[in-house]
Amino acid sequence: MKNIKNKLFSQETVEIGPNSNYDNYIMAIESSCDETACAIVKNGREVIANVVASQIKTHAQFGGVIPEIAAREHLDSINIVIEEAFRQAKENVGLKPEDITAFAGTVGPGLVGCLLVGLNAAKTLALTYDKPFIGVNHLNAHLCGNYIDTDLKPPFMALLVSGGHTQIIDVKSYSEQEIIGETVDDAVGEAYDKVARLIGLPYPGGPRLDKLAQEGNPFAYKLPEARVDELNFSFSGLKTAVLRLVKSFEGKELPVNDICASFQETVSSTLLHKLKKALEESGYKQVVIAGGVAANSEIRKKIFDLQNEGYTVFAPPMKYCTDNAAMVASCAYFNTNTFDDVNVEVFSRVK
Ligand code: KG4
Ligand code: ZN
Repeated sequence: MKNIKNKLFSQETVEIGPNSNYDNYIMAIESSCDETACAIVKNGREVIANVVASQIKTHAQFGGVIPEIAAREHLDSINIVIEEAFRQAKENVGLKPEDITAFAGTVGPGLVGCLLVGLNAAKTLALTYDKPFIGVNHLNAHLCGNYIDTDLKPPFMALLVSGGHTQIIDVKSYSEQEIIGETVDDAVGEAYDKVARLIGLPYPGGPRLDKLAQEGNPFAYKLPEARVDELNFSFSGLKTAVLRLVKSFEGKELPVNDICASFQETVSSTLLHKLKKALEESGYKQVVIAGGVAANSEIRKKIFDLQNEGYTVFAPPMKYCTDNAAMVASCAYFNTNTFDDVNVEVFSRVK
Protein backbone atom coordinates (compact mmCIF):
# COMPACT_ATOMS: atom_id res chain seq x y z
CA MET A 1 0.00 0.00 0.00
CA LYS A 2 1.10 3.53 -0.47
CA ASN A 3 -0.18 6.67 1.13
CA ILE A 4 -0.41 9.21 -1.64
CA LYS A 5 0.12 12.91 -1.25
CA ASN A 6 0.29 14.81 -4.56
CA LYS A 7 1.60 18.34 -4.65
CA LEU A 8 -1.71 19.75 -5.85
CA PHE A 9 -3.91 17.42 -3.88
CA SER A 10 -5.28 18.97 -0.72
CA GLN A 11 -6.21 16.01 1.51
CA GLU A 12 -3.69 14.52 3.93
CA THR A 13 -3.19 11.10 2.34
CA VAL A 14 -5.14 8.40 0.54
CA GLU A 15 -4.45 4.69 0.98
CA ILE A 16 -4.07 2.88 -2.34
CA GLY A 17 -3.44 -0.84 -2.80
CA PRO A 18 -4.25 -4.28 -1.41
CA ASN A 19 -3.67 -3.27 2.23
CA SER A 20 -5.91 -0.21 2.12
CA ASN A 21 -8.51 -0.06 4.89
CA TYR A 22 -11.27 0.94 2.47
CA ASP A 23 -12.44 0.09 -1.05
CA ASN A 24 -10.43 1.73 -3.84
CA TYR A 25 -12.20 2.84 -7.03
CA ILE A 26 -9.60 3.86 -9.59
CA MET A 27 -10.49 5.54 -12.88
CA ALA A 28 -7.76 5.09 -15.50
CA ILE A 29 -7.15 6.43 -18.98
CA GLU A 30 -5.08 4.69 -21.67
CA SER A 31 -4.04 6.43 -24.90
CA SER A 32 -0.51 5.18 -25.67
CA CYS A 33 -1.20 4.06 -29.27
CA ASP A 34 -4.42 3.72 -31.27
CA GLU A 35 -7.00 2.95 -28.59
CA THR A 36 -8.64 5.68 -26.47
CA ALA A 37 -9.80 3.92 -23.32
CA CYS A 38 -11.26 4.72 -19.92
CA ALA A 39 -12.18 2.30 -17.11
CA ILE A 40 -13.09 2.21 -13.44
CA VAL A 41 -11.88 -0.78 -11.40
CA LYS A 42 -12.70 -1.64 -7.77
CA ASN A 43 -9.80 -2.92 -5.66
CA GLY A 44 -7.71 -3.80 -8.71
CA ARG A 45 -9.81 -6.76 -9.78
CA GLU A 46 -13.48 -5.84 -10.30
CA VAL A 47 -14.33 -3.87 -13.44
CA ILE A 48 -17.09 -1.31 -12.81
CA ALA A 49 -16.84 0.43 -16.21
CA ASN A 50 -14.78 -0.29 -19.32
CA VAL A 51 -14.81 1.72 -22.56
CA VAL A 52 -12.50 1.41 -25.58
CA ALA A 53 -12.68 3.57 -28.73
CA SER A 54 -10.57 1.91 -31.43
CA GLN A 55 -8.95 3.79 -34.32
CA ILE A 56 -8.25 0.65 -36.35
CA LYS A 57 -10.48 1.71 -39.26
CA THR A 58 -8.72 5.07 -39.58
CA HIS A 59 -5.21 3.63 -39.64
CA ALA A 60 -6.12 0.65 -41.86
CA GLN A 61 -6.18 2.95 -44.90
CA PHE A 62 -2.51 3.83 -44.25
CA GLY A 63 -1.33 0.31 -43.42
CA GLY A 64 -0.20 1.32 -39.92
CA VAL A 65 -0.60 3.82 -37.09
CA ILE A 66 0.14 7.43 -38.09
CA PRO A 67 1.13 9.17 -34.81
CA GLU A 68 -0.22 12.65 -35.62
CA ILE A 69 -3.56 11.29 -36.80
CA ALA A 70 -3.74 9.00 -33.75
CA ALA A 71 -3.21 11.94 -31.37
CA ARG A 72 -5.97 13.94 -33.07
CA GLU A 73 -8.38 11.00 -32.86
CA HIS A 74 -7.62 10.68 -29.14
CA LEU A 75 -8.63 14.33 -28.79
CA ASP A 76 -11.94 13.57 -30.52
CA SER A 77 -12.68 10.52 -28.36
CA ILE A 78 -11.28 11.29 -24.92
CA ASN A 79 -14.28 13.14 -23.46
CA ILE A 80 -16.69 10.60 -24.92
CA VAL A 81 -14.95 7.59 -23.32
CA ILE A 82 -14.69 9.37 -19.93
CA GLU A 83 -18.38 10.32 -19.96
CA GLU A 84 -19.37 6.80 -20.96
CA ALA A 85 -17.25 5.28 -18.15
CA PHE A 86 -18.91 7.56 -15.58
CA ARG A 87 -22.31 6.64 -17.04
CA GLN A 88 -21.59 2.89 -16.79
CA ALA A 89 -20.32 3.25 -13.20
CA LYS A 90 -23.49 5.09 -12.20
CA GLU A 91 -25.71 2.56 -13.91
CA ASN A 92 -23.81 -0.51 -12.63
CA VAL A 93 -23.14 0.39 -8.98
CA GLY A 94 -24.42 3.96 -8.45
CA LEU A 95 -20.85 5.29 -8.31
CA LYS A 96 -20.44 9.08 -8.69
CA PRO A 97 -17.28 10.90 -9.89
CA GLU A 98 -16.66 12.15 -6.30
CA ASP A 99 -16.52 8.49 -5.14
CA ILE A 100 -13.39 7.80 -7.24
CA THR A 101 -10.39 7.17 -4.96
CA ALA A 102 -7.70 8.17 -7.48
CA PHE A 103 -7.24 8.90 -11.18
CA ALA A 104 -4.56 7.12 -13.23
CA GLY A 105 -3.09 7.54 -16.70
CA THR A 106 -0.53 5.74 -18.87
CA VAL A 107 2.75 7.69 -18.95
CA GLY A 108 4.64 5.44 -21.41
CA PRO A 109 6.06 3.75 -23.31
CA GLY A 110 4.01 4.90 -26.29
CA LEU A 111 3.50 7.65 -28.86
CA VAL A 112 4.21 10.93 -27.06
CA GLY A 113 1.46 13.00 -28.72
CA CYS A 114 -1.06 10.26 -27.91
CA LEU A 115 0.09 9.79 -24.31
CA LEU A 116 -0.19 13.52 -23.64
CA VAL A 117 -3.90 13.55 -24.49
CA GLY A 118 -4.85 10.80 -22.02
CA LEU A 119 -2.43 11.86 -19.33
CA ASN A 120 -3.59 15.46 -19.32
CA ALA A 121 -7.20 14.33 -19.13
CA ALA A 122 -6.40 12.08 -16.14
CA LYS A 123 -4.47 14.84 -14.37
CA THR A 124 -7.27 17.33 -15.01
CA LEU A 125 -9.83 14.93 -13.52
CA ALA A 126 -7.61 14.44 -10.46
CA LEU A 127 -7.34 18.18 -9.96
CA THR A 128 -11.04 18.78 -10.61
CA TYR A 129 -12.20 16.20 -8.06
CA ASP A 130 -9.27 16.86 -5.70
CA LYS A 131 -8.02 13.24 -5.81
CA PRO A 132 -4.53 11.79 -6.21
CA PHE A 133 -3.09 11.17 -9.65
CA ILE A 134 -1.14 7.96 -10.45
CA GLY A 135 1.06 7.60 -13.54
CA VAL A 136 1.26 4.05 -14.88
CA ASN A 137 3.78 2.19 -17.04
CA HIS A 138 1.99 0.59 -20.01
CA LEU A 139 4.02 -2.65 -19.87
CA ASN A 140 3.33 -3.19 -16.16
CA ALA A 141 -0.31 -2.51 -16.94
CA HIS A 142 -0.42 -5.34 -19.50
CA LEU A 143 0.80 -7.74 -16.79
CA CYS A 144 -1.83 -6.46 -14.36
CA GLY A 145 -4.58 -7.33 -16.86
CA ASN A 146 -4.19 -10.79 -15.33
CA TYR A 147 -5.37 -9.63 -11.89
CA ILE A 148 -8.79 -8.67 -13.27
CA ASP A 149 -11.52 -11.15 -12.28
CA THR A 150 -8.93 -13.63 -10.88
CA ASP A 151 -7.23 -14.39 -7.57
CA LEU A 152 -3.72 -14.39 -9.08
CA LYS A 153 -1.02 -13.43 -6.60
CA PRO A 154 2.75 -13.15 -7.18
CA PRO A 155 5.22 -14.75 -7.48
CA PHE A 156 4.80 -15.89 -11.09
CA MET A 157 6.60 -15.94 -14.43
CA ALA A 158 5.18 -13.66 -17.13
CA LEU A 159 5.54 -13.64 -20.89
CA LEU A 160 4.80 -10.16 -22.21
CA VAL A 161 4.21 -10.14 -25.97
CA SER A 162 3.05 -6.93 -27.66
CA GLY A 163 3.65 -4.79 -30.74
CA GLY A 164 6.70 -3.19 -29.14
CA HIS A 165 7.97 -5.69 -26.57
CA THR A 166 8.80 -9.34 -26.01
CA GLN A 167 9.92 -10.02 -22.47
CA ILE A 168 10.05 -12.76 -19.87
CA ILE A 169 9.46 -11.14 -16.49
CA ASP A 170 10.00 -12.62 -13.05
CA VAL A 171 7.18 -11.06 -11.01
CA LYS A 172 8.43 -11.48 -7.43
CA SER A 173 5.76 -9.38 -5.70
CA TYR A 174 3.07 -6.87 -6.67
CA SER A 175 5.68 -4.14 -6.91
CA GLU A 176 8.94 -6.00 -7.60
CA GLN A 177 9.71 -7.48 -11.00
CA GLU A 178 12.79 -8.33 -13.05
CA ILE A 179 13.08 -8.65 -16.83
CA ILE A 180 15.06 -11.87 -17.30
CA GLY A 181 14.75 -12.22 -21.08
CA GLU A 182 13.85 -10.01 -24.05
CA THR A 183 14.10 -9.68 -27.81
CA VAL A 184 17.38 -8.48 -29.26
CA ASP A 185 15.63 -7.14 -32.38
CA ASP A 186 11.95 -7.26 -33.46
CA ALA A 187 9.11 -7.70 -30.97
CA VAL A 188 6.74 -10.62 -31.68
CA GLY A 189 3.83 -8.33 -32.63
CA GLU A 190 6.16 -6.37 -34.91
CA ALA A 191 7.26 -9.63 -36.60
CA TYR A 192 3.62 -10.64 -37.07
CA ASP A 193 2.73 -7.26 -38.58
CA LYS A 194 5.80 -7.22 -40.90
CA VAL A 195 5.24 -10.79 -42.12
CA ALA A 196 1.53 -10.04 -42.63
CA ARG A 197 2.45 -7.04 -44.73
CA LEU A 198 4.91 -8.95 -46.91
CA ILE A 199 2.31 -11.58 -47.77
CA GLY A 200 -0.15 -8.82 -48.63
CA LEU A 201 -2.49 -8.83 -45.60
CA PRO A 202 -4.06 -5.50 -44.58
CA TYR A 203 -3.42 -3.77 -41.21
CA PRO A 204 -3.70 -4.89 -38.45
CA GLY A 205 -1.75 -7.89 -39.67
CA GLY A 206 -1.30 -9.94 -36.48
CA PRO A 207 -4.90 -11.06 -35.91
CA ARG A 208 -5.44 -11.67 -39.66
CA LEU A 209 -2.33 -13.81 -39.91
CA ASP A 210 -3.52 -15.77 -36.87
CA LYS A 211 -6.86 -16.47 -38.57
CA LEU A 212 -5.31 -17.70 -41.83
CA ALA A 213 -2.78 -19.80 -39.90
CA GLN A 214 -5.65 -21.79 -38.40
CA GLU A 215 -6.55 -22.93 -41.94
CA GLY A 216 -3.00 -23.98 -42.90
CA ASN A 217 -0.50 -26.78 -42.22
CA PRO A 218 1.93 -25.66 -39.48
CA PHE A 219 4.56 -28.13 -40.67
CA ALA A 220 4.39 -27.27 -44.40
CA TYR A 221 7.65 -25.26 -44.27
CA LYS A 222 10.55 -25.59 -41.85
CA LEU A 223 11.47 -22.10 -40.70
CA PRO A 224 14.48 -21.35 -38.45
CA GLU A 225 14.08 -20.94 -34.68
CA ALA A 226 16.75 -18.34 -33.81
CA ARG A 227 19.48 -19.44 -31.43
CA VAL A 228 19.90 -16.62 -28.96
CA ASP A 229 21.62 -16.70 -25.58
CA GLU A 230 19.85 -17.51 -22.36
CA LEU A 231 16.24 -16.35 -22.22
CA ASN A 232 16.49 -13.79 -25.03
CA PHE A 233 14.67 -13.84 -28.37
CA SER A 234 15.31 -12.80 -31.98
CA PHE A 235 12.65 -12.62 -34.68
CA SER A 236 14.30 -10.65 -37.51
CA GLY A 237 15.93 -13.78 -39.06
CA LEU A 238 12.58 -15.54 -39.11
CA LYS A 239 11.03 -12.57 -40.91
CA THR A 240 13.83 -12.72 -43.54
CA ALA A 241 13.28 -16.48 -43.93
CA VAL A 242 9.58 -15.86 -44.65
CA LEU A 243 10.56 -13.18 -47.19
CA ARG A 244 12.85 -15.70 -48.97
CA LEU A 245 10.08 -18.30 -48.93
CA VAL A 246 7.57 -15.82 -50.39
CA LYS A 247 10.04 -14.85 -53.16
CA SER A 248 10.52 -18.52 -54.09
CA PHE A 249 6.87 -18.56 -55.21
CA GLU A 250 7.28 -15.68 -57.67
CA GLY A 251 4.92 -16.18 -60.61
CA LYS A 252 3.07 -18.95 -58.77
CA GLU A 253 0.15 -18.86 -56.38
CA LEU A 254 1.30 -18.16 -52.81
CA PRO A 255 0.27 -20.87 -50.29
CA VAL A 256 -0.70 -18.13 -47.81
CA ASN A 257 -2.39 -20.32 -45.19
CA ASP A 258 0.54 -22.77 -44.99
CA ILE A 259 3.09 -19.94 -44.76
CA CYS A 260 1.07 -18.27 -41.98
CA ALA A 261 0.69 -21.58 -40.12
CA SER A 262 4.41 -22.41 -40.42
CA PHE A 263 5.40 -18.92 -39.21
CA GLN A 264 2.94 -19.14 -36.31
CA GLU A 265 4.24 -22.61 -35.37
CA THR A 266 7.85 -21.37 -35.25
CA VAL A 267 7.02 -18.25 -33.21
CA SER A 268 4.83 -20.07 -30.70
CA SER A 269 7.38 -22.90 -30.23
CA THR A 270 10.19 -20.38 -29.66
CA LEU A 271 8.16 -18.53 -27.04
CA LEU A 272 7.18 -21.76 -25.32
CA HIS A 273 10.76 -23.12 -25.19
CA LYS A 274 12.16 -20.00 -23.55
CA LEU A 275 9.23 -19.66 -21.15
CA LYS A 276 9.62 -23.28 -20.05
CA LYS A 277 13.31 -22.71 -19.47
CA ALA A 278 12.51 -19.69 -17.27
CA LEU A 279 9.91 -21.69 -15.35
CA GLU A 280 12.27 -24.59 -14.74
CA GLU A 281 15.07 -22.27 -13.56
CA SER A 282 12.78 -20.37 -11.18
CA GLY A 283 10.76 -23.27 -9.82
CA TYR A 284 7.57 -21.18 -10.17
CA LYS A 285 4.34 -23.04 -10.79
CA GLN A 286 2.27 -20.05 -11.97
CA VAL A 287 2.62 -18.58 -15.45
CA VAL A 288 0.98 -15.56 -17.03
CA ILE A 289 0.78 -14.24 -20.59
CA ALA A 290 0.04 -10.62 -21.39
CA GLY A 291 0.09 -8.04 -24.20
CA GLY A 292 -1.71 -7.81 -27.53
CA VAL A 293 -0.11 -10.95 -28.95
CA ALA A 294 -1.41 -12.95 -25.97
CA ALA A 295 -4.65 -12.92 -28.00
CA ASN A 296 -2.95 -15.27 -30.50
CA SER A 297 -4.72 -18.64 -30.73
CA GLU A 298 -1.66 -20.88 -31.07
CA ILE A 299 0.45 -19.07 -28.46
CA ARG A 300 -2.45 -19.33 -26.00
CA LYS A 301 -2.95 -23.01 -26.81
CA LYS A 302 0.71 -23.95 -26.37
CA ILE A 303 0.98 -22.06 -23.07
CA PHE A 304 -2.31 -23.40 -21.73
CA ASP A 305 -1.00 -26.92 -22.52
CA LEU A 306 1.49 -26.28 -19.68
CA GLN A 307 -1.46 -27.05 -17.40
CA ASN A 308 -0.92 -30.72 -18.31
CA GLU A 309 2.55 -30.41 -16.76
CA GLY A 310 1.30 -29.10 -13.41
CA TYR A 311 1.48 -25.34 -14.05
CA THR A 312 -1.36 -22.91 -13.39
CA VAL A 313 -1.78 -20.68 -16.43
CA PHE A 314 -3.37 -17.22 -16.52
CA ALA A 315 -4.18 -15.23 -19.67
CA PRO A 316 -6.50 -12.25 -19.77
CA PRO A 317 -9.67 -12.57 -21.85
CA MET A 318 -9.23 -10.97 -25.30
CA LYS A 319 -10.64 -7.58 -24.23
CA TYR A 320 -7.95 -7.23 -21.54
CA CYS A 321 -5.12 -8.50 -23.81
CA THR A 322 -5.13 -5.66 -26.31
CA ASP A 323 -4.84 -2.07 -25.09
CA ASN A 324 -7.50 -1.12 -22.52
CA ALA A 325 -7.76 1.07 -19.42
CA ALA A 326 -8.96 -1.59 -16.94
CA MET A 327 -5.43 -3.03 -16.85
CA VAL A 328 -4.08 0.49 -16.20
CA ALA A 329 -6.45 0.96 -13.24
CA SER A 330 -5.48 -2.44 -11.87
CA CYS A 331 -1.80 -1.53 -12.18
CA ALA A 332 -2.32 1.79 -10.37
CA TYR A 333 -3.78 -0.23 -7.49
CA PHE A 334 -1.31 -3.13 -7.33
CA ASN A 335 1.98 -1.76 -8.56
CA THR A 336 3.16 0.58 -5.87
CA ASN A 337 6.21 1.52 -7.94
CA THR A 338 4.07 3.77 -10.10
CA PHE A 339 4.55 7.54 -10.04
CA ASP A 340 2.50 9.74 -7.79
CA ASP A 341 3.30 13.25 -8.85
CA VAL A 342 1.09 15.35 -11.12
CA ASN A 343 4.26 16.72 -12.71
CA VAL A 344 5.21 13.32 -14.14
CA GLU A 345 6.06 13.45 -17.85
CA VAL A 346 5.28 11.05 -20.69
CA PHE A 347 8.01 8.93 -22.31
CA SER A 348 8.17 7.11 -25.65
CA ARG A 349 10.58 4.28 -24.88
CA VAL A 350 11.72 2.23 -21.91
CA LYS A 351 14.81 3.98 -20.57
O1 KG4 B 1 -0.39 -4.74 -26.69
P1 KG4 B 1 -0.90 -4.20 -27.97
O2 KG4 B 1 -2.40 -4.02 -28.13
O3 KG4 B 1 -0.23 -2.84 -28.31
C1 KG4 B 1 1.11 -2.61 -27.93
O4 KG4 B 1 1.30 -2.17 -26.77
O5 KG4 B 1 1.99 -2.93 -28.76
O6 KG4 B 1 -0.36 -5.18 -29.10
C2 KG4 B 1 -0.57 -4.95 -30.48
C3 KG4 B 1 0.10 -6.06 -31.25
C4 KG4 B 1 0.07 -5.83 -32.76
O7 KG4 B 1 1.36 -6.07 -33.26
C5 KG4 B 1 -0.94 -6.86 -33.24
O8 KG4 B 1 -0.69 -7.27 -34.58
C6 KG4 B 1 -0.72 -7.97 -32.26
O9 KG4 B 1 -0.57 -7.31 -31.02
N1 KG4 B 1 -1.83 -8.93 -32.20
C7 KG4 B 1 -1.73 -10.21 -32.60
C8 KG4 B 1 -3.01 -10.80 -32.41
N2 KG4 B 1 -3.85 -9.85 -31.89
C9 KG4 B 1 -3.10 -8.71 -31.77
N3 KG4 B 1 -0.68 -10.89 -33.09
C10 KG4 B 1 -0.89 -12.19 -33.39
N4 KG4 B 1 -2.07 -12.82 -33.25
C11 KG4 B 1 -3.15 -12.18 -32.76
N5 KG4 B 1 -4.33 -12.81 -32.63
ZN1 ZN C 1 -0.12 -2.43 -25.30
